[in-house]
Parts: sequence; structure tokens; C-alpha cells
Amino acid sequence: MAEIAVIGCGQAGLVVATAFASKGHHVTGIDLDRRKIEACRMGVAPIDEPGLDELLTQGLASGRLTFLDQYPEYPERIPAEFVFIAVGTPTSPSGASDLHALKSAITRMAPALRDDAIVVNKSTVPVGTCDEMVRLLRRSGAPKATVVSNPEFLQEGDAIHNFIEPDRIVLGSNDPDSLERVAGLYEDFGATVVQCDVRTAEMIKYASNAFLAMKVSFINEMASICEVLGADVSGVAHGMGMDRRIGAQFLRAGIGWGGSCFPKDVSALEYAASLHGVRAQLLRGVQETNRDQRRQVLRKLRGVLGRLETARVVVLGASFKPNTSDVRESPALEVASLLRLGGAEVRVVDPHVVPESVPAQFPYLDVTGDLMAAAQDADALVLATEWPEFIDLPLEDLAGVMRRPLIVDGRNVLDDRAVRAAGFIYRCIGRPNAEGGGVTLPEDRADERLDGRITDWPTVERAERADRERIPSRNGRQAAALASD
Ligand code: UGA
Repeated sequence: MAEIAVIGCGQAGLVVATAFASKGHHVTGIDLDRRKIEACRMGVAPIDEPGLDELLTQGLASGRLTFLDQYPEYPERIPAEFVFIAVGTPTSPSGASDLHALKSAITRMAPALRDDAIVVNKSTVPVGTCDEMVRLLRRSGAPKATVVSNPEFLQEGDAIHNFIEPDRIVLGSNDPDSLERVAGLYEDFGATVVQCDVRTAEMIKYASNAFLAMKVSFINEMASICEVLGADVSGVAHGMGMDRRIGAQFLRAGIGWGGSCFPKDVSALEYAASLHGVRAQLLRGVQETNRDQRRQVLRKLRGVLGRLETARVVVLGASFKPNTSDVRESPALEVASLLRLGGAEVRVVDPHVVPESVPAQFPYLDVTGDLMAAAQDADALVLATEWPEFIDLPLEDLAGVMRRPLIVDGRNVLDDRAVRAAGFIYRCIGRPNAEGGGVTLPEDRADERLDGRITDWPTVERAERADRERIPSRNGRQAAALASD
């Protein structure tokens, strides 16, 4: 069994540390954040990840998992042959990756590395960074150090499973011996190990995240086209996804992607390309489509309510996706913020996110766990994060307390018939409105439509105007009757 150290006990690092310990290795987790280390030593994961507390407790009990809140001082050494780095690399204002934490970790650990130690990098870093790391390590007191890039593909909420049963393991190094030794660590994972040069490994990580983000933006763009042509994007995604060359995952249309990875990685890749004179137009488009998806919600609300200035809107969800309390780059908070800037009174409801974790950039957003209180006298609900609690909403009760019964389903997860039956006007992403907004274009006039020459056919806007005129301001039941007319 190997001796492993993991520098950085955050979202990825703690999963790596506990999972390797569960496989019988001796693991030392190192993080300079004392409170984090204290929590780890007590068996309480400082991050919200299903199954992590259990793995942590097991590791501590086995005696194979220990934690340090500082680097050993020379002549003491980090007790490891494999030193994994999993520190944060956030985006700086320029769009570049902020490598401060990484550089600081390298310079501090270098004098404490064993002579046979291999540094294995899991942090997402710009292509070429591992080469820099070798130079920095050697200058900082580790003349024999080698570096292997081992990008991580963990999804928050499913990270332990992703780590233990990966689709593939990517290892890149310019040192074949180090590559072989790190590959040995993964021998019993049952996954193909892709071995390549270090820059290719670094690029695989960016390209993978950019591709997934592109898939989501692609289906979102298709959703906008579906809306005006009267098709249903869910059916389109289903039909497309059955083609194995395309694949069914990451084709869920909605208000777009967020989180701590896609936004930072797509923008860092575009930035890196631009530094070398490459105009990454597709990456730019992927991000623009994503920003537009947030605005779709405002357009849909205005389509029914007319004005946002006097509206009270409840945003369902604060986290960037369900089953995590992570609000970094959350589409839900961005939508809430846009609504607030558009003049609406906004309340955000989330089953797990507490008000203290809402970033300082949104001081004006109220977050609560009390759905019914938030919905009192509201004009609209916007489903922004598909928590199970929101897929199974108490529709009748909500319609009873709201000022106007309107739901914009920003994740296409609600049963539209049930929603309408409870008295709501229902809007979603990329599906025709059953109230008459769906547009069927006669085959023989399709070309004219694309030219913009047909003007006399029913539009979504026209249906929305009709809704607006029909909605009474205070009576949910009456609206139900009208909506189902
Ligand atoms: C993502 C990648 O999926 C991981 O492989 C990668 O390791 C990780 O980033 C990282 O670089 O660390 P994660 O940020 O946990 O993982 O989130 P995802 O599950 O990929 O979702 C990202 C965003 O896309 C979410 O806002 C989600 O709601 C959105 N999404 C996803 C859609 O809007 N539609 C979809 O069909 C899928």
C-alpha cells in the first residue's frame, strides 16, 4: 500500500484523500485552514458531499487517514511518495486562472518533499502550468521532484462514486517513470488509464468541461428555436440523445449552467486561446448563450405579467444544481439578481442553502427555507434549481396563497398538466405553450418563415399577451378556470 499526501482538503481533495484511504493506502490530508482540519479530524466533512462523512469516519477509525494544518518543517518530511495537489484555482478578474494558492503550496511543500516524491496535480490549471510547477519545485528546494498531471472529473453530489468508478483516468507527464508509478496507484480502479504528455492531460480537462458546457448551451439554443417553431426540446433531446455518437447526458434545457467549474474553465480556456491569438468563437458563443438563458426567465415573466417593477417573484433554488449547497456561479442566484435589478421584489427559497452562504455580491437577496411564507402574495414562482422538493410542489396550496398563479419552470421538470390543473399559468424552456403559443409552421412555407416573411401566424408573444389579459390579479381559482378554457 502506498503513502499518499493530499494538499488542499476542499471539494476534490477531501474526496481523493478519503477514497484512497478507503482503498487501504495511508493518507495525510494537509490544509492550512485550521477550522477545516479540526472538522476533518472530528469526522465532519467541511463540505457538503453525499457519503463523505462516512468515508472520513471510516478512514479516521482505520488509522490510515490523518490530517495536518501545516507543512512539516525541514528536516521533517511530508510522509508520502505521492503528493496530490487539489487547491482552488479560481478565475481572476481578467479571466485568467488565479494560481496564487497553487504556487504558495508548491513553494511551501518543496523543502519538505521526500527525494522519491512525485507531485500529482489535480487542480485545474492552464495548459503549461505543470511544466512551471517542475521549475518552481526545483528552485524551491526539491531538485529531484517530478510532476504528473492527473485531472479530476468529479461532479459535485456524485463525487465519491465518480472517483471510485471513473470513466477513465488521465495521467500526463514528461517523465515516463513517474507516469508508470502513478498509474500503479489506479491499478485496481477497473478503468482505462489514458497516458499522455503533460500538456495534453491538462488540455483534456478543459476540453471536457468546455464540451459539456457546450452541450448544455447547444440544447438551450435549440430550445429557443423550438419555442418559435413549435417543437418540444425535451423530445428533441430524447431523440438526439439516443444516437450513441451524441449521447443523452447534458442535454437538459433550462436556465443554463453554473457552478465552480464550467464558468471558470470555459472562460479560462477562451482567455488562454486569446493570449495566443486564437479567437475561440465557439467558446464565446457557449458563454453568451448561457447568459441569455438567465434572461429568458425575465422575458417569460414579462410576457405574462407585463411589468416586473411591481411584481413579487419567488425563485425556487439558490444552489447551482440540486443536492449541493454550493452557490458559486449559481444560475438561480443570477436569475434572482436580474429580477431584482429589473425592479421585482424577490424571495429565494432553498431547502439547504442558508442565508449566510449567499455571496456578498448579492446583499439584496433574501434566502429562506419557508416556501409557503415566501409564496404569500407572490405573482410568480421561478423554478431555478430542480431540488426534489420543488419537483413535488404543494401546487393547490401555493395557488391559494399567491396573488397570481404563474410558474416559470426554468428546468423543465414539472408536470405541466398537474401545474395547470392546480390553476397556474405554466411557462417552461423550449416547449410550446399549451394555451396556444405553440406554432406549427406549414411545411410549404418553412423557407418564408426562415426569411422572416411570414407575419400572420400565431406567435408565442401573442399567446402571452392573451394570458396577460386573462389573468385576474388575486383569484387563483378563477385563473384556473380561465387557463383551462
Ligand atoms: C463539472 C463536470 O461535470 C465534472 O466532470 C468536473 O469534474 C467538474 O465540473 C469540475 O471541473 O470540477 P459540476 O460542476 O459538479 O461538475 O457540475 P455538473 O453536474 O457538471 O453541472 C454543471 C452545471 O450544468 C449545473 O449548473 C447544471 O445545472 C447544468 N446542467 C447540467 C444543465 O443545465 N443541463 C444539463 O443537461 C446538465
